[in-house]
Formats: sequence, C-alpha cells, structure tokens
Amino acid sequence: MSTEPVLEVESLTLAAKSKEILVNNISFSLARGESLGLVGESGSGKSLTLRAILGLLPRGVEQTGGAVRSKVSSAMVFQDPRGALDPLCPVVKQLAEVVYYRQQVSRRAARTIALELLERLGLPDSLRKKDRYPSQLSGGQCQRVVIALALACKPGILLCDEPTTALDVTVQRQIIDTITSLQHELGFAMVFVTHNLAIAANLCSRLYVMKQGQIVEHGETLSLLQHPADPYTQMLIDSVLPLPELELEGSRQ
Ligand SMILES: Nc1ncnc2c1ncn2[C@@H]1O[C@H](COP(=O)(O)OP(=O)(O)OP(=O)(O)O)[C@@H](O)[C@H]1O
Ligand SMILES: [Mg+2]
Repeated sequence: MSTEPVLEVESLTLAAKSKEILVNNISFSLARGESLGLVGESGSGKSLTLRAILGLLPRGVEQTGGAVRSKVSSAMVFQDPRGALDPLCPVVKQLAEVVYYRQQVSRRAARTIALELLERLGLPDSLRKKDRYPSQLSGGQCQRVVIALALACKPGILLCDEPTTALDVTVQRQIIDTITSLQHELGFAMVFVTHNLAIAANLCSRLYVMKQGQIVEHGETLSLLQHPADPYTQMLIDSVLPLPELELEGSRQ
C-alpha cells in the first residue's frame, strides 16, 4: 500500500471579498483510510476548510493562498440533511441520479446500485417505493440518505460536516457506527468536523483544533485530549459537562 497522502492542504488561506481573512495559513495531510478530526468553536473556519477541499467555496469567499492537492475525489456529507435533499424528488430517484452521473452506468444499473446503497445504510425497504419523499423520513433516515448520496460518488475522501449534530444521541451513535463500518469496508479517508469531542475521540486518530481561522494545536487524538498544550484546547475539554458520579453502591441498597 502506498504511503503517499490522499490529501495535502498546504498553507491554505481563504478570505472574504472584504479582504477579511477567514482561514489563515492552515496545513495538514491525510493518509489513505485515515480519519482526521477538525474541532473548534463556531465560526472558526471548519466548514470553509471542507468546502475548499471539495472545491466548492461559497459565494463571497476566495482562496488567496496555499494549495489543496489530492488525486482522489471527495464527497461531502452536509450538516443539514433535509436541506441537502430535493423535497420534490423521491429518495430512490435522487440517489439513482447521482449514481447515473457519477458512476456513468446505465439507468437500470444506477437504480440497482441505488437500492443496494439504501440497504447498506440500513434504510427500510419501504424507501424503494417511487413515492417516498424526504418529508416522509425521520431525521436519522434523512442523514443516512445523505451519506448514501455521498458514497454514490465513490469518494476516496469523505468530508463530514457535523453529520450528527441535529440528531438525538441514540441515532448519533447508530450513524457513527454505520460510518465506521462503511469506512472499514470501503476504505475511504475522512475529514470529520464536529463540536463533540467524544465523537472525535471515537472516530479520529488525529485532531486539529481550530480557532479564528487558525490551527492552534494538533496531534494524536488521545494524547491531545489527555495533555492539551494550548489553553484553548483545554477550554474545549473543560466545557464538556461530566456525568455526575453514579453512586452505585448506595443505590443498590
Ligand atoms: N459566504 C461567506 N461570505 C463571507 N464570510 C463567510 C461566508 N461563509 C462563512 N463566512 C465566515 O467565515 C468564518 C468561518 O465560517 P465557517 O462556516 O467555516 O465556520 P465553522 O467553523 O464551520 O462554524 P460552525 O461550527 O458554526 O459551523 C465565519 O466568520 C463566517 O462568518
Ligand atoms: Mg460549520
């Protein structure tokens, strides 16, 4: 297996049209099959970094420095799953369209692959029906469909922008487990943006901490969380509410 990174972000700088620097000189690389976490407060530049990797910066933002280099394709799982789906198009049809255009197969094969993807993501058989629209799905099911749409592109890199923030904790857990097993099976690398340090610790081997457009600290996930060098990282860790110690002994009596 080659050790060449699948993605290199080198001194990436993004600025608003007003010249305000939004992402400032950040660098990292991603190995094949690796999961890298981007954590940091709201507005620190995480989503813009993912969009720069995808090559789809929003209007009003431009790359003013650095480079993004990758020989494999990327696909993004957006934060708001319902907003990422077309409400007027049946789910199966949306998925089959993406397969048709991205994998360049026949219409019939595209539908078969779409149905396989729905099954692989643990979505119910009822979604096969042509009249199943996004409004008929739960939040967790919508998120699974959005992951299926990203996987339909056969990406070498999956970019996840807080894919579980809007979901309740049990569904969060299921989605994270699904992403983990798909990654083992399909071998894509991943850049995972999250506010949730527990999710980052479970999924990512390395973490990059962003603040105001800059990377303030990075390292192996566990050592970074156990021995943060930067006060901002410490503050992020401290802001996680601990579970109160359960007095099991006493409660048994
Ligand atoms: N289209 C845009 N035009 C101008 N500024 C923008 C645009 N999109 C984002 N920004 C600014 O860039 C900065 C970084 O935004 P970004 O969306 O990357 O933050 P984030 O870290 O993803 O935050 P959150 O955790 O809330 O999603 C913010 O200050 C934001 O206001
Ligand atoms: Mg964001």
